[in-house]
Amino acid sequence: MADSPEFAPGLAGIPAARSSVCLINGAAGKLQYRGYPVEQLAEHCNYEEVTYLLLFGSLPTRDQLAAFTAELAAERHLKFRIIDVLKQLPESGHPMDALTAAVAVMGMFYAEGDHVADPAFRRLCAVRLVAKLPTVVAAWHRIRRGDNPIEPRSDLGHAANFLYMLEGEEPDELAARIMDAALVLHAEHSMNASTFTCRVTASTLADPYASVASAIGSLAGPLHGGANEVVLEMLRTIPDSTPETVRVWAENKLARKEKIMGFGHRVYKVKDPRADILQTLATQLFDKLGSTPIYATAIELEKQMKELVGHKGIAPNVDFYSGIVYEKLGLDTDNFTPVFAISRVAGWLAHLLEQLEDNRIYRPSQIWTGTADRTVPTIDER
Ligand code: SDX
Repeated sequence: MADSPEFAPGLAGIPAARSSVCLINGAAGKLQYRGYPVEQLAEHCNYEEVTYLLLFGSLPTRDQLAAFTAELAAERHLKFRIIDVLKQLPESGHPMDALTAAVAVMGMFYAEGDHVADPAFRRLCAVRLVAKLPTVVAAWHRIRRGDNPIEPRSDLGHAANFLYMLEGEEPDELAARIMDAALVLHAEHSMNASTFTCRVTASTLADPYASVASAIGSLAGPLHGGANEVVLEMLRTIPDSTPETVRVWAENKLARKEKIMGFGHRVYKVKDPRADILQTLATQLFDKLGSTPIYATAIELEKQMKELVGHKGIAPNVDFYSGIVYEKLGLDTDNFTPVFAISRVAGWLAHLLEQLEDNRIYRPSQIWTGTADRTVPTIDER
């Protein structure tokens, strides 16, 4: 049966919620959290402040921020039995799968309340999830290579503590600030696939750990958050950064109808504003640590893609330059998407809280394309 006019593949353009969390103007390349431009938030606010803004709707006062920061820091620790669960997982497995597994079991270890009936418990679940995700990612990073996890420190900010837990070294001020800004930039992005997944799961009144675990699974795919990992691998397959080489490489990919990772977006038809800021962060790191050869290739690819497919509204998205920043910060490539998750958890939870304020279970319809009213044949007749 042909698609009916009501059917929108990928639900493109179909509103799935009323929301005051995030506003995107895809034609103008504008992104705002709770009405504040992301450029200003990345420059003036840390991740804890932005998380408070997303979860509770307003920027915190100095006292509110101090209390919230302390609350998050106090919740960073993981029960040793959750660490034991991580120790059972195969070290060759992807960190996103380890994160999904750990968050799913967290629901069993922190199940002392009713998040639907009790807003205070709901808030506690949100704080725990934001606080503990970096601890899980860092713990798995160490466990899989045979090292003991490092206990979180409560005297460090959210981003600095994450970097500290990876290798046991306190990051310098620049690394901590850039990690923090990258977390701010990835914290929220309206009704993307993982946020939609989170809201759908939350709408069944499943616990917040199940909602976030399902969102992590959704983020992992290469068409979504998983793209940041694939971008670097893809850039490394381009032999050099000369315009001719990059042009031919891109033309061949496009001729084969292959997707070029880190480009294109359902909503943005111009360059993603986060990509511009991430590029600035990358250059700040290069000033201190020296450049990355792959960066020249990335710049050239952006230029060539503009000429080749810019007219179709295909431009760099958030995942195009983030890997270059993360690599310079010393992160393993397969930890790039987990870093996206430890940031985006704030947005997922903001949507979860909003969903539960006025909940109705998600239950879309479908367009039937099968044959109806059939008679089951006997096994000899099939
Ligand atoms: C994220 O939604 C969000 O907000 C997500 C996100 C967030 O913060 O939550 O911004 C994070 O997921 C960023 C996107 C990361 N993914 C990638 O970089 C993978 C590569 N990008 C594409 O697969 C694609 O652009 C999507 C998945 C991001 C969007 O897909 P759409 O909206 O369904 O668009 P489409 O695949 O139908 O493409 C439309 C046209 C097609 O050409 P035509 O058939 O019309 O000729 O654009 C072409 C596509 O072939 N196209 C690309 C392309 N992306 C789209 N061509 C080459 N390379 C690409 N990357």
